[in-house]
Amino acid sequence: MSHLYKSVPVRSSEITPKQVYLSRRDFMKAATLATSAALLAACAPSVTAQPQDAGPVPTSNATDELGDMVNTYSDITTYNNYYEFSTDKQSVASLAKDFKTTPWTVEVGGLVNKPKTYGVEDLLKLFPPEERIYRLRCVEAWSMVIPWEGFMLSKLLKAVEPTSDAKYVRFETLLDKKQMPGTSSPFYPWPYQEGLRLDEAMNDLTILATGLYGEDLPAQDGGPIRLVVPWKYGFKSIKAIIKIELTSEQPATMWSSIAPNEYGFYANVNPGVDHPRWSQVSERRIGEISRRGTLLFNGYGDQVAHLYDGMDLTKNY
Ligand code: MTE
Repeated sequence: MSHLYKSVPVRSSEITPKQVYLSRRDFMKAATLATSAALLAACAPSVTAQPQDAGPVPTSNATDELGDMVNTYSDITTYNNYYEFSTDKQSVASLAKDFKTTPWTVEVGGLVNKPKTYGVEDLLKLFPPEERIYRLRCVEAWSMVIPWEGFMLSKLLKAVEPTSDAKYVRFETLLDKKQMPGTSSPFYPWPYQEGLRLDEAMNDLTILATGLYGEDLPAQDGGPIRLVVPWKYGFKSIKAIIKIELTSEQPATMWSSIAPNEYGFYANVNPGVDHPRWSQVSERRIGEISRRGTLLFNGYGDQVAHLYDGMDLTKNY
């Protein structure tokens, strides 16, 4: 996979050289005795201030634009929300270990002039991925900094030519009961689905991610292809996408159909609007001991606040 280290919105000085990732990966391969205890330690807030392993770690200039260090590969790939596999974050990686990510196609259709089904390989050729270091803020009030590779969703949407009636974009995750043990739970209205307003989808920050730390996107993080919308709570960033559909009506989303008063369609990160069952004022950055304040729009207000001019964010939560 080629990597175009484009500088928007991440400065090239913030990017960890690929060799560092690769040497770390080699270390991790070698460290076959990395016990589950060590992996668990990577996720426990009380112990992660200490080094979790002796291998090379991302260089000190691997930060987001606010100067916050990227999380370790281990943090990002062993602490996952992916209900199709499990509701236990630390079980997802092992349950997704054999998940088949190739071949994989994404059907793009609905209100477009040029509907098309793309193989992931085609997408990577048409839209070479670039690195984006983004904060991910889960609605559960934990967060990470993640070096994704991906391409702007706007490029794909422009290629299929939305019609003038298209106002929203709907996304759907694969539903495969054989491979995804969590989908046997009748509590959730599978498949996982999500949506964005078309202007949100066209924003330069919105990407389809296909890689992480210079490698293909691991299954537990939504491989082979997922959405990343960094100013919204993590549940908007839908994993393992098989379908993208342009619509005229606001699409139903999985979490807002389960609990509309808890999970709105917009789901913009907002410390001023609490979840009905907990505060959103602060968050626990995985790997840190003390909590930190949550930023409006997760710190991306300069790029996205205009999308919500005139809207009451307490009502459109
Ligand atoms: N996508 C699907 N298909 N299924 C899920 O359960 N969980 C969401 C989101 N995308 C989820 C999903 C939630 S709640 C979060 S916080 C992020 O994925 C977590 O992404 P990560 O595991 O890569 O950190």
